[in-house]
Amino acid sequence: MNEDQRKFGQQIKTEDPADKKSEKDYSKYFQSVYIPPSLKDAKKRGKEEIKYHKDFTIDEQFRGLGNGKKFYIRTYGCQMNEHDTEVMAGIFSALGYEATDTTEDADVILLNTCAIRENAENKVFGELGHLKHLKRDNPELLIGVCGCMSQEESVVNKILKSYQNVDMIFGTHNIHRLPNILADAYMSKAMVVEVWSKEGDVIENLPRVRRGNIKGWVNIMYGCDKFCTYCIVPYTRGKERSRRPEEIIQEVRQLAAHGYQEVTLLGQNVNAYGKDFEDLEYGLGDLMDELRKIDIPRVRFTTSHPRDFDDHLIEVLAQKGNLVEHIHLPVQSGSTEVLKIMARKYTREQFLELVRKIKVAMPDVALSTDIIVGYPNETDEQFEETLSMYREVGFEHAYTFIYSPREGTPAAKMTDNVPMEVKKERLQRLNDVVNEFSAEALKKYEGKVVEVLVDGESKKNENVLAGYTRRNKLVNFEGPKEVIGNIVKVKITDAKSWSLFGEFIEVGQIGSEFEEAVEVK
Ligand code: SAH
Ligand code: SF4
Ligand code: F3S
Repeated sequence: MNEDQRKFGQQIKTEDPADKKSEKDYSKYFQSVYIPPSLKDAKKRGKEEIKYHKDFTIDEQFRGLGNGKKFYIRTYGCQMNEHDTEVMAGIFSALGYEATDTTEDADVILLNTCAIRENAENKVFGELGHLKHLKRDNPELLIGVCGCMSQEESVVNKILKSYQNVDMIFGTHNIHRLPNILADAYMSKAMVVEVWSKEGDVIENLPRVRRGNIKGWVNIMYGCDKFCTYCIVPYTRGKERSRRPEEIIQEVRQLAAHGYQEVTLLGQNVNAYGKDFEDLEYGLGDLMDELRKIDIPRVRFTTSHPRDFDDHLIEVLAQKGNLVEHIHLPVQSGSTEVLKIMARKYTREQFLELVRKIKVAMPDVALSTDIIVGYPNETDEQFEETLSMYREVGFEHAYTFIYSPREGTPAAKMTDNVPMEVKKERLQRLNDVVNEFSAEALKKYEGKVVEVLVDGESKKNENVLAGYTRRNKLVNFEGPKEVIGNIVKVKITDAKSWSLFGEFIEVGQIGSEFEEAVEVK
């Protein structure tokens, strides 16, 4: 028993969490569960075979657990987390809970957290502080922390010490155990902590309540084995595990049958899809080739790693159809030296060669990227190489970040001679270039007719509709509300800095970004 366990008087559950035999009974024996995370264990990459479970069901003993109760989930971070929230919402609903969109109404509040940068974590601690008063008003309220932050020892220790209003902490590998965790939290006075540091198996047939019925997310793989030196994800999400192609194809077919217009395939490194199959030579290119034949208007994927982006995938994407002409391809830096320290495993030249191949095969592709500035000891010259790289590729959009040290990663141990002021200045200079290229790319749309998948009303004005083109450009236009959820043709009249504005023409697909050049009168 360590210091914290003693302090909080918790009992320890020592059985292997994968031992399903004990699952049904253990709540009888334990008042609370304490399985804290270990980044050291999370780093290990075992050779054990991944087990596929097709049989997820909610145990009878938990049915009705949420009758008359409401749940609220706040999601931070990437699409992977958004989709995990959909799964957790599915489990809550299966247990009888109802969704609410205010914390005041909720009987259970979950914060599905992100650990990617320090400011992401600070937001969560801030929110936990805000929630304190709710607990005072409603002592029955359960507050839970899940997602990537839960996988970090330092976070769990901080919550144990300073956020006694938290009732449960669980990680990214045991989402499917939400019913058990809730049941434990209701029974226990102590904080229930159940974080598995070794990735779980692949579990199919999890319930989901999807956000909306126009666009759907589909996991194709979990985890990441790339271990870029700055990144916490390989620790918080475990080793790479691919879902079987037939499961993915079936899920996409089902979404198509339910009228979804777009799917986005999700993985931290989707280009490594299939590498873990021992019985099958099958990669992302093969999967996309199958999805191409499904009757759904748009298929996207995120996120690509340049290193595993192979020729077969490029060939398949070039056939277009429902495969859209937008690729998010994080480069991180334009300097080969920095890329080496980041362990990205490609050089500036190799990245440029990949871009060249993609552009030859798909001349109308829109490329976007992620960039980190102010990496430990990044020189001015190295930063300039990032700027020149950006211009050379002609990215149309980028997410840009100042490097944030993450405890447990190799980069966090590096000494860093770049002052924060310099990092901020570099970010600003990069953002100026990003904005310039984005505006330039949008300008080209003026006068053209594009196809837009209409998501709904614009956030700023309910009389204006909003949606995205195949190349992922945001378009606002005035049009009839009935077209929400459809693909429509819109004539672009005005390019703003971040979005396009246009006139509704008619419902209909073009199958390509532009129909024809039309003069604006
Ligand atoms: N799997 C994706 C990235 C997921 S994280 C990929 O490899 O492309 C999204 C982005 O956050 C990364 O591309 C990177 O630009 C940024 N990021 C990750 N760790 C970071 C850190 N420690 N500090 C700053 N930015 C970081
Ligand atoms: Fe992080 Fe690199 Fe994996 Fe992306 S590929 S999740 S940046 S380790
Ligand atoms: Fe954040 Fe975890 Fe995604 S760290 S970016 S939520 S994988």
